[in-house]
Amino acid sequence: MGFRQDFLWGGATAANQCEGAYNTDGRGLANVDVVPIGNERFDIISGKRKMLDFEDGYFYPAKKAIDMYHHYKEDIKLFAEMGFKTYRLSIAWTRIFPNGDELEPNEKGLAFYEDLFKTCQQYGIEPLVTITHFDCPIHLIKEYGGWRNRKMIVFYERLVRTLFTRYKGLVKYWLTFNEINMILHAPFMGAGLVFEQGENEQQTKYQAAHHELVASALATKIAHEIDPDNMIGCMLAAGEYYPLTPKPEDVFLAQQKNHENYFFIDVQSRGEYPAYALKALERGGIEIDMTEEDVTLLKQHTVDFISFSYYSSRVVTTDESVEKTAGNIFKSVKNPYLEASEWGWQIDPLGLRTTMNAIYDRYQKPLFIVENGLGAIDMPDESGCVKDDYRISYLREHIKAMKDAVELDGIDLLGYTSWGCIDLVSAGTGEMKKRYGFIYVDRDNDGNGSLKRTKKKSFDWYKKVIASNGEDL
Ligand code: BG6
Repeated sequence: MGFRQDFLWGGATAANQCEGAYNTDGRGLANVDVVPIGNERFDIISGKRKMLDFEDGYFYPAKKAIDMYHHYKEDIKLFAEMGFKTYRLSIAWTRIFPNGDELEPNEKGLAFYEDLFKTCQQYGIEPLVTITHFDCPIHLIKEYGGWRNRKMIVFYERLVRTLFTRYKGLVKYWLTFNEINMILHAPFMGAGLVFEQGENEQQTKYQAAHHELVASALATKIAHEIDPDNMIGCMLAAGEYYPLTPKPEDVFLAQQKNHENYFFIDVQSRGEYPAYALKALERGGIEIDMTEEDVTLLKQHTVDFISFSYYSSRVVTTDESVEKTAGNIFKSVKNPYLEASEWGWQIDPLGLRTTMNAIYDRYQKPLFIVENGLGAIDMPDESGCVKDDYRISYLREHIKAMKDAVELDGIDLLGYTSWGCIDLVSAGTGEMKKRYGFIYVDRDNDGNGSLKRTKKKSFDWYKKVIASNGEDL
């Protein structure tokens, strides 16, 4: 019993949150580069405010991040020391195609990832690659309006064909779009969307999502053609919605919110728009431009596995007066039974098991947990070490729940990569002080620090967890 022998233990990062080197070796500018830290950040990521260039008076954390571009050998060596079997990272689209619409890729960008994958290979670490993790070339936003434009499918196809061809034999596990449902909440990050005054935002979001879904099916097709061993996954920002009370209206609302979330991966996993979504779109007056070829592609090229991030469950009620939680892009009301992180994210390990069951019941395909973790303020002690017992406790409880889902519920789980295995820039707030890592990076919110890497207490704990295949928690 327990986890499978080839269980893929590891950690996860995203290019724009760790690489830095935003204009090195021919890299172009992406949406995620121009999102500053500070009050405006949410307006920008939600597409309400336009910022498509660097502006004076702002600090842009992604420009340098933790400079993994120049530290990856040292960082992967540390991951190997923890015993990682896999490392989830994302490709920066603008390293490969700086503007996004070129015909030929940038060799220096391709060479960078090739060397990174070979470094992983040297340690027996299987890369798990997110093709787009919230990034979209700025040029494609300025010229084409981001994913609202069908031409994006062509540019994405060129990107994936290049990646699958070049990295054949080096990479087997791929995710097409990070947290595809994020398009509803942070459409600038999810699809490079900035809304015009008076634009029908829902119409634009769902049309953009349709283009991503078709691009994802096309990528799945191409990946399997180039190498039948390729394994392609969808990726959901998961977390079941609970009703606050047994009032039938609350229960029904929770089901509706779960539908809203699952819609995208329902298409990627089952190959067609679910009936509830078609009806909801019709009621909302949303018309999707969908060709016959789209329908066939979606049907024939479903994903091999379902990956997801899990940080918290969510709670809804029809009672508007109930207090909401703070600090999360996903709106939820407070769950009176749960503690919350310093950023107001509610901590619910059993909710992970509930969520895994809900997803597995729905699709009956292998699952992969590709993000989970605790964002916290870490303070090194006099010796320079971070004693992050709170993080160990969070991860231990979640891994226990995940183990129960495997052992007691029979869920087929391929692996687990905790989020931000090395401290990096927060996607939601842009802060460095919101840390998730087993490895501390000396850098603060204002960009000060030596970038020195130091092991936290959780480093040795996770090493032991991996060595015992999840038995010694
Ligand atoms: C997920 C994203 O939504 O949550 C990551 O895929 C992100 O990119 C992570 O970093 C944690 O969120 P935050 O806002 O704490 O960085």
